[in-house]
Amino acid sequence: MTQKLTAAITAVSGFVPEDKLTNKDLEKMVDTNDEWIVTRTGVSERRILKGEAKGVSDMGAPAVLGLCSKRGIDPMEIDCLICCTVTPDMMFPATANIICHKIGAKNAWGYDLQAACSGFLYGVTTGAAFIESGRYKKVVIVGADKMSAIVDYSDRTTCILFGDAAGAILLEPNTEGLGIMDSILKSDGSGANYLHMKAGGSLRPASIETVTAKEHFIYQEGPAVFKFAVKGMADVAGELLERNNLTGDDIAFLAPHQANKRIIDATAQRMGLSPEKVMLNINRYGNTTSATIPLCLWEWQSKLKKGDNIVLAAFGGGFTWGATLVKWAY
Ligand code: UT7
Repeated sequence: MTQKLTAAITAVSGFVPEDKLTNKDLEKMVDTNDEWIVTRTGVSERRILKGEAKGVSDMGAPAVLGLCSKRGIDPMEIDCLICCTVTPDMMFPATANIICHKIGAKNAWGYDLQAACSGFLYGVTTGAAFIESGRYKKVVIVGADKMSAIVDYSDRTTCILFGDAAGAILLEPNTEGLGIMDSILKSDGSGANYLHMKAGGSLRPASIETVTAKEHFIYQEGPAVFKFAVKGMADVAGELLERNNLTGDDIAFLAPHQANKRIIDATAQRMGLSPEKVMLNINRYGNTTSATIPLCLWEWQSKLKKGDNIVLAAFGGGFTWGATLVKWAY
């Protein structure tokens, strides 16, 4: 009997810029304070990609090179690269293509995938299907965002939340029953009212008016998004466990999107997980959108064991949300 082909995560890497933006720094920029930010969000500092002409590809490329060196492969071996981001270098061409060019992945095709904070989960699920089909052997999923490019640093309700980073994973075929086991992905376009960037798309192209009105920055109705997020992420993670006949005891780790510690706590509680099973680095990086989950896997990988059940879960703009069950493969 031929064993079912699954897509295993065979390497993880990441990149965080050196420059830090601390809560103390933000106290000098807007009317806020460290105590408010920490208790309401869990963030203490974030990384900012500084320097002239630096975009998401400048974080994605080193993350993917790190991945190749960890797995001992040449970038020429990559078949396909999906870059999940809401802050591409440019509207087009795709940042995926630019990353491939920068690292010499000349045999890869690829594209950008935009699902806001759930981008990485959408990317993993799509990439896994490419492997499961038997068509491709090495698919790279990059989650990367330079949120500082679209944050209004005079808006205290959003500038305290976001940071810049990139993470990447390699997916390869597996016949031992390890890898991406199941995913539940959801979306609801009515959520666009609460979390979006108003201008710069075809609906409202860039103009002097859009720039003056600060419409090229993140717009978020925080409390409304919070309400949807806390329910959405916890519900979908619970549904994933039920569908796979698992309880919190069967789960080694939760790798949650890092938008707000309170949302993460609610999800962990719903899954019946104790705090030590929850990957949490929001205090050091803030919300890096598509990069949060691969960044967690990168930082926690030394603790992960072959066969461990890991749940990835996210909620974000769109609205988009979902959860993925992974059996760790190395
Ligand atoms: O990753 C994508 C999905 N996004 C999310 O999941 C984010 C979801 N939302 C949130 O995480 C939270 O709603 C925020 C962290 C954005 C805000 O926290 P909150 O507990 O919902 O606060 P709030 O917006 O209800 O504001 C409470 C108070 C307000 O003052 P009044 O009206 O009570 O006097 C705000 O003006 O806190 C004030 N406030 C601040 N105070 C100090 C808002 N921002 C700040 C600030 N510093 N930075």
